[in-house]
Amino acid sequence: MSDVQRVRAEFRQRGQEHVFRFWEDLDPDAQDRLVAQASRIDFAPLDRALSSAGKPPQIDVEAIGPVPVEALLEHGGDPADRETARQRGEDLLRAGRVGVLVVAGGQATRLGVPGPKGLFPLGPVTSRSLFAQQAQKLRHLRDRCGHAVPWLVMTSPATDAPTREAFSSNDYFGLPAEDVFFFCQSSVPSVDFQGRLLLERADRIFESPDGHGGAILALRDSGALDEMERRGIDLLFYYQVDNPLVHLGDPVFIGFHALRGAEMSCKVVRKRSAEENVGVVVQIGDQVGILEYTEIADAQREARDAQGALLYWAGNVAMHVLNTDFLRRVAADAEALLPLHPSRKKIPALDASGTPLSPDAPNGYKLERFIFDALLTARRVCVVEVRREEEYSPVKNAEGPDSPATARRDLEANYRAWLSEAGLPAPPERDSLEIDESRISGPEELRALGVEGLANAGEVLLTSPGAKA
Ligand code: UTP
Repeated sequence: MSDVQRVRAEFRQRGQEHVFRFWEDLDPDAQDRLVAQASRIDFAPLDRALSSAGKPPQIDVEAIGPVPVEALLEHGGDPADRETARQRGEDLLRAGRVGVLVVAGGQATRLGVPGPKGLFPLGPVTSRSLFAQQAQKLRHLRDRCGHAVPWLVMTSPATDAPTREAFSSNDYFGLPAEDVFFFCQSSVPSVDFQGRLLLERADRIFESPDGHGGAILALRDSGALDEMERRGIDLLFYYQVDNPLVHLGDPVFIGFHALRGAEMSCKVVRKRSAEENVGVVVQIGDQVGILEYTEIADAQREARDAQGALLYWAGNVAMHVLNTDFLRRVAADAEALLPLHPSRKKIPALDASGTPLSPDAPNGYKLERFIFDALLTARRVCVVEVRREEEYSPVKNAEGPDSPATARRDLEANYRAWLSEAGLPAPPERDSLEIDESRISGPEELRALGVEGLANAGEVLLTSPGAKA
């Protein structure tokens, strides 16, 4: 039996023969591509994911309780503890034990702009891209800790080439090329509600990136983990490309993670209200996990403590520290520990006649792994509270909440707060304002510059007069 016959027979047996329905119209190269793609598909994880689709999650409600948190000072955190954590984190950074991992393989469907989200022009004055802004922060981190901090950039098949091209044509945004590592996540097929594969083109099965949790497998499979360990790195600071407020390589977070002996840590913010749609970090027996907003029972969502404050307030903001040996352990058992989760999506696949659909309602499932599923495997998790207004304002939607407008607004509000804390004059509210984060990461450095320095600081502080008038 030839390869083609073998693959087609297997697909027929699985009720997936329809992916070859345009076979006779394809030229030999296109036929080869389709068979090659089909033969790479692993049905076992798909079957497992689909058997759970539409069923309520298996959660032992009795075992759920609030998670212990390293609280902010205004919520009872101990200043001495925080200072010890900062010093520990700085020591680890100076010792070159920390790398930074950004997941940038998403499809940005809600934002709706073509190309990688990391190239989205976010700078309020310069229109600097998210990647360029994050590179500034990394340059500053490197200068502060006197050590290279490698940047691991996870792409996906659709974002890989344009991301690499943008870095190379922008001189790696001022970073040494040898400190930037690209690695590409895998894809998984999408399916209709009957579990049938979909076609993107006559010679291509519809696939999408396997979720941010795919980072754990791709880190191992690309050799990036080997390379990090070869460099003496045993901790990765994880974040998502779409949050311009991220405190890259935050020493307090890294320090708490190390001091508490955690394998994976998690930053959280206070939920705005019981109803806010955000996953909450909770204790589940002796594990720590995340209850998605779709999973939390009403009684828990509304539960309050004796002071009337929300009991389950710790909203996940997708920033983690992970030990490299922990990542290897999770990757080794990924099918059990990082399952694919189905979510209902509008999928622009071909219809039976080969015409591309543009569905106005979900017509199938995309399947994704979630990085936070790894929390359940960690022997110890450290949860650190941060201020939302200082650290989290993601770009998700084209307009409204979590959009470029709100992210720019929140970024500028931080810059204005830094100026005010440093006792320096801020430009009028109608001016846009941007600070070069390769030089300045907070009020202390602005204060050190002083008004004199500020006047001569050139690109450090840019304004666009009347931009918001
Ligand atoms: P989101 O879940 O917000 O997805 O990803 P998205 O692709 O940015 O936007 P939508 O949902 O299509 O509108 C959160 C972070 O995880 C990354 C994204 O790039 C973003 O940084 N991500 C997501 C990946 O790297 N790969 C994936 O498969 C999914």
